[in-house]
Amino acid sequence: LSKIEVKLGDIPEGKNMTFKWRGKPLFVRHRTEKEIATEEAVNIAELRDPQHDRERVLNSKWIIVLGVCTHLGCVPIANAGDYGGYYCPCHGSHYDSSGRIRKGPAPLNLEVPFYEFPDEDTVIVG
Ligand code: FES
Repeated sequence: LSKIEVKLGDIPEGKNMTFKWRGKPLFVRHRTEKEIATEEAVNIAELRDPQHDRERVLNSKWIIVLGVCTHLGCVPIANAGDYGGYYCPCHGSHYDSSGRIRKGPAPLNLEVPFYEFPDEDTVIVG
């Protein structure tokens, strides 16, 4: 399937759910107010792959990224690592809850796919 539709009401705040999309894991995460505030306050000058949180979301409650580590392609673990976002156990890459690489060997942020919200409770990725 080239597109996937996800019902956002099924994902409680603070949780990440994993879907399969175009043969890859897709992470959809319902961020908490605290996570949003933390990510929006990050000084992008300190980032390896500098991107403001705003550039990575359409609605700050939802972070939607491919679950493919940009180092060598393992699947990171959600709600883990030093930055509370994602942690890749293969070689120790730590991503924040914006999916940005913060520590470890991965060179780039987790990829944000094209998506849109046709209504408040639905996202279509692809
Ligand atoms: Fe993720 Fe190497 S594949 S750290």
